[in-house]
Amino acid sequence: MKKVKVAILGFGTVGQGVYRILIEKRSQLKQMLGVDLEVAKILVSNPNKPRPHAAKELLTNQIEEILDIPNLDVVFEAIVGEEPAYQYLDRLIEKGCNVITANKVMFSKHGKSLQEKAAKHGVQVGFEATVAGGVPVIKTMDNLLRVNKVQRIQGILNGTSNYILTQMRGRGMAFEEALEDAQKLGYAEADPYNDISGQDAFRKLMILSELAFKEQPDWKDVKVQGINEITSQQVKEATEKGMRYRHIAVVQKNYKTGEVHATVRPELIDQSHPLYSIEEVNNAVAIEADLLGTVTLVGPGAGMLPTASAMVEDYGDMLTKTKNVISI
Ligand SMILES: NC(=O)c1ccc[n+]([C@@H]2O[C@H](COP(=O)([O-])OP(=O)(O)OC[C@H]3O[C@@H](n4cnc5c(N)ncnc54)[C@H](OP(=O)(O)O)[C@@H]3O)[C@@H](O)[C@H]2O)c1
Repeated sequence: MKKVKVAILGFGTVGQGVYRILIEKRSQLKQMLGVDLEVAKILVSNPNKPRPHAAKELLTNQIEEILDIPNLDVVFEAIVGEEPAYQYLDRLIEKGCNVITANKVMFSKHGKSLQEKAAKHGVQVGFEATVAGGVPVIKTMDNLLRVNKVQRIQGILNGTSNYILTQMRGRGMAFEEALEDAQKLGYAEADPYNDISGQDAFRKLMILSELAFKEQPDWKDVKVQGINEITSQQVKEATEKGMRYRHIAVVQKNYKTGEVHATVRPELIDQSHPLYSIEEVNNAVAIEADLLGTVTLVGPGAGMLPTASAMVEDYGDMLTKTKNVISI
C-alpha cells in the first residue's frame, strides 16, 4: 500500500483532532482511501510545551523543516490568524503540496488566490472546516452548483452566539450570564469578541459568498452586528409572540443587477423560517437554489473531532478527484 506523508500546522484543538483521527482511524483510512497516512511533522509556536499526545521529534517551530520534507503530499493547517498561515500555505502549494485548512480568518481573505495558485501547480485546496465546522456545507454547495444557481444563503454560523440566544430564551438568562455560561462550558473563547460581535460569522459568510457567487461584496458595505445589545426583556417579548431572535448571516445575489448583498445581524424570526428551530451550539445553513429550492444543513459548527473530521474527509475527496498522490 502507498504511504503518504502528511504534516499538521498547529497542534491546538483542531490540529490535535486531526492527529488523533489519523492515528486512531489509521486502519479504516487505509481501507477506505487505499493509502497509509503517516504524520511526518507538526508545526507549533512553542515546541517545548509539554504535549503528551505527540512524539517530541515530530514537533518543530520551523516551517522550513516542513517545506523540506521530500514527497510531502498534504498539509492540514489549523493555526490562528491571517499570517503567517497564508504565507505558509502559499509556499507549500508552490512546492506541489495539497493543503487543507480550518482557518477562516485567513481563507476569507486569501482563499481565491490560494485556489488560483493551487490550480497552476496541479494541487488541491480543502476548506470544508472553515465554515460550520463538521457540517458539510462546502461539499453540498459544490455539488449543487454543478446544476443549480444559488440565490441566497442564510446561516447561523457562530455556535456561541446561538448558544447564548438559546439560553436567554430557554432559561431567562441575561446576555452576560449566558456568555459566562458559554465560557464555562468551553464554547466561547476567553476573549469572545469575534463570536459575539458577528466578525466570526462574517468571515464564514464571505467564504460562502466566494463559493456560491464567485465574488464577495465589498467588506465595507456589509453591516455586521453582534448579539450583545439584545436584552432579556426583548427576548421575553419575542417569545410571547412565538418569535425567536437568531443571529443570521445572509448573502444573496440579484442576478438582474449582478449585485451581491450581505448582512450579519440578529433577526427576529417566526416558525416559518428555516433557522427557527436551530438550538444550542449548533450551526445551520439554508441554501436557496433555483432548481433544488431550499436545503438546510444542521450540525456541530466547531469542536475538536467534528472540525478535524471535516478536514480528513477533505483529503478523501482529494484522492477521489485525483489519483496522483505522491507515494513514498
Ligand atoms: N476550535 C474549533 O472548534 C475550530 C473550528 C473551526 C475552525 N477553527 C479554526 O482552526 C484554527 C485552529 O483553531 P484551534 O481552536 O485549534 O486553535 P488553538 O487551540 O489556539 O491552537 C492553535 C495552534 O496553532 C499553533 N500556532 C499558532 N500560531 C502559530 C504560528 N505562527 N506558527 C506555528 N504554530 C502556530 C499553536 O502553537 P502552540 O501550541 O505552541 O501555542 C497551537 O498549537 C483557527 O484558525 C480556527 O479559527 C477552529
